[in-house]
Amino acid sequence: NINPVIMAGGSGSRLWPLSRQLNPKQFLPLADGMQSMLQATIQRLQGLDIAMPRLICNEQHRFLAAEQLRQIGMEQASILLEPVARNTAPAIALAALQACGEEEDPILLILAADHLIQDVPAFHASIQAALPLARAGKLVTFGIVPSHPETGYGYIEKGVAVGDGFAVSRFVEKPDLATAAEYLASGDYFWNSGMFMFRASRYLEELGRFQPAIAAACREALAGGSQDMHFIRVDAEAFAACPEDSIDYAVMERTADAVMVPLDAGWSDIGSWSALWDVSAKDAEGNVFKGDVLSECSCNSYIHADHRLVAAVGVEDLVIVETKDAVLVTHKSQVQDVKKIVEQLKNGR
Ligand code: GDD
Ligand code: MG
Repeated sequence: NINPVIMAGGSGSRLWPLSRQLNPKQFLPLADGMQSMLQATIQRLQGLDIAMPRLICNEQHRFLAAEQLRQIGMEQASILLEPVARNTAPAIALAALQACGEEEDPILLILAADHLIQDVPAFHASIQAALPLARAGKLVTFGIVPSHPETGYGYIEKGVAVGDGFAVSRFVEKPDLATAAEYLASGDYFWNSGMFMFRASRYLEELGRFQPAIAAACREALAGGSQDMHFIRVDAEAFAACPEDSIDYAVMERTADAVMVPLDAGWSDIGSWSALWDVSAKDAEGNVFKGDVLSECSCNSYIHADHRLVAAVGVEDLVIVETKDAVLVTHKSQVQDVKKIVEQLKNGR
């Protein structure tokens, strides 16, 4: 069966001020209001033949993570705790090593805790299509038909058919805008969804080949770690010495064994306020209002009121997010730069 690994160690800073260091976006009910993004990620696996999911997140979120797992009846899931963030290549390595200690060379399904997937049966079908490829030793990524020249994603050039997928001729992580536009126009490229499926041993082999320092540091960190209930800690010193890199740069751009399985399931990465506006139900004027909001002649805006009445008159294409201690006002075209405000705050402004 399939061993899901949920990566939940991101900071979600572009969704400030709702997403905070102590409560980042994956733990918030951003997309539908009831469940957090993390809970929805796990719930949408229902119906697949899977093992207990494994979560990997920052140590400071351990109680939040455990409580959210408990709420959905997943208190048996193990939670790997990173003392510092080293990006996704090390996070996945820890999960792969830990999974290998429990089962012989398990098939891992790597998922991000902050994606929205609207068509769950289509998602399951892509996972089933990927399974024989992963069993055969391929490193599977799930590819999305691109809709615009997004520079925040990885791009996959489709090669010859392999099983129910395609060989990856080229994997380019986060190209510049001109390159992304070229890829889009060519029609040969897919977006990397950031979800993967492979045998634990194949990932560890490829990581050992391309980033041996990461593989070695993760082995040492896990070997020196400890388990307390479902929390798995790693040796802080060994993990701090681990180089930082994402799976995309460390492995997927370089491996010769990447294959892509298309995913057409209403996938979206809720990366920014405009992405959230995009996927939300809108009123006749194209507005999304959350909480106590009053408006006259406003359109195409996302307005969220947490603690007070927010009134907007004649505004267009704005994002307004009111919380107890901070208010964000930004144009929808500038939402990527919200993270710069978070950087200012971190640096004591
Ligand atoms: N445990 C852990 N530790 N999780 C992490 C860490 C870490 O240090 N860093 C990031 N994550 C988690 C995030 O919470 C998120 O769920 C996932 O890993 C992906 O990280 P992002 O930081 O959101 O990556 P990205 O959006 O820049 O790029 C990736 O996703 C795109 C699609 O959304 C890449 O895979 C791209 O190629 C892809 O197109
Ligand atoms: Mg992301």
